[in-house]
Amino acid sequence: MKPYFLTTSIPYASGKPHIGHALEYIQADVLARYARLQGREVFLSSGTDEHGQKIERAAAAVGQTPQAFVDVLALQFERLLKAVTVDVDAFVRTTDPDHVAVAQWLWQLAAEAGDLYKQTYRGFYCVGCEEYKQPAELDEAGQCPIHLTVPEEREQENWFFRLSKYVPELQKLYAAGDIVISPTHRTKETLNFLDNSADVSVSRPSDSLAWGIPVPGDDSQVMYVWFDALANYLTAARTDRNKLEIDRSDFVRWPADLHLVGKDIFRFHTIIWPAMLLSAKLPLPKEIVIHGFINHDHHKMSKSLGNVIDPFPLIEQYGVDAVRYYLIKAIPTTDDGNFSTEQFEAVYTADLVNNLGNLVQRTLTMLERYQVLRPEALPPSLPDWYQAALQARDFSLALNGIVERVSALNQQLAEQKPWEIAATQPERLSGILQPIYQALYEVAYLLQPFLPETASKLAAQLDSGQPEPLFPRLEQP
Ligand code: MSP
Repeated sequence: MKPYFLTTSIPYASGKPHIGHALEYIQADVLARYARLQGREVFLSSGTDEHGQKIERAAAAVGQTPQAFVDVLALQFERLLKAVTVDVDAFVRTTDPDHVAVAQWLWQLAAEAGDLYKQTYRGFYCVGCEEYKQPAELDEAGQCPIHLTVPEEREQENWFFRLSKYVPELQKLYAAGDIVISPTHRTKETLNFLDNSADVSVSRPSDSLAWGIPVPGDDSQVMYVWFDALANYLTAARTDRNKLEIDRSDFVRWPADLHLVGKDIFRFHTIIWPAMLLSAKLPLPKEIVIHGFINHDHHKMSKSLGNVIDPFPLIEQYGVDAVRYYLIKAIPTTDDGNFSTEQFEAVYTADLVNNLGNLVQRTLTMLERYQVLRPEALPPSLPDWYQAALQARDFSLALNGIVERVSALNQQLAEQKPWEIAATQPERLSGILQPIYQALYEVAYLLQPFLPETASKLAAQLDSGQPEPLFPRLEQP
């Protein structure tokens, strides 16, 4: 049976991973683990985007070959996946030989469909975005608003993809909701973009860019990095990565059930990618989830500002689940959010140490002290509110639902005061403590997609009856 196939975007191997990449990995993992909880077989793919001018220049700046440069960075992204406890089933590097073969195969299909033509193009290219910019997309200083650099003026002969041919079909698809986009307002935005979509340039002359996948049958050109990168999803969908001959029947996991991407790249996924697939007569992805950006102390993170958050020391200092918790709870899934160390520490202490940690500690300690039997766990189930929040791709809502449940249990203890009843009415203790113990099992079960390590530690403590601090208290400065 085809697994539930979901993908992260593939970050550029041009710089070290940052907290925004961690956010995307964790969100994808929540979806993957949730689907597994529902009993589905899941296949999660990720990878690195390793061609293009951005990378060619970054490698040259440090005196390395592009290949040596991306080899080091690809490992960093794999390391980050492990550090945030995200197990991927495929990691596609766009320099992998099977990926090169898939991208060239896809190119040939577009050519056979009559969707590629050569033309001279003049425009303003932002190397940071790897994209030509329209004048209306630039800020008042004529800069790319994302990279704050003035795009380079270029005139080149390029291959063009006949995107315009697929616009009516895409309009119909989105109007009918055949591809689900979260958040929904991005569907409207996609439809607006479609109204103004012209054909897109999909190659570069190889004399100006050597680091790319050669265009089949045209030595003078290499593929535009986005054509190459989008094809990674098909590479991940194949059964045998060692087989370099590509056949339609290889793509057993296709179509993708869900692509998760950031808001800066959603147009590539809602417009260009489906058009490429239509051209190749391949099925379309079913859902595209678009997350927002993390800002640092309410400022955009950027290398030049020097405020980019490195996820590794954060994980080392506070633990992986503290980081997962904050990124899921404090950053709205499909909107922008803010990271501040103070808020991080405040949330950690309030929710994880004081709320959840204390409840587990107190409940298990009292069960032991008052010799109350630990009851059987109730059969696990996924409550409606939880499923609804996850289905709406609102992860913080689902996580908050669990936290509220924990708060209510703490409140129950505070009101029922078992430590006072112990002396006067010990026969009532089991009626108070046993339901809380059972509710904690449910908490452990529901936490699995969000905080997998904590969920299994909690379940183990409930089984053994031996509490151990789940989240150490932060030392006061
Ligand atoms: N290489 C392309 C993606 C190709 S997918 C076929 C790319 N790479 S990237 O490294 O710039 O971005 C990778 C992902 O990280 C994107 O989904 C992007 O939106 C996300 N983020 C980059 N900065 C971010 C934040 N500050 N916050 C959250 N996510 C951010 O685009």
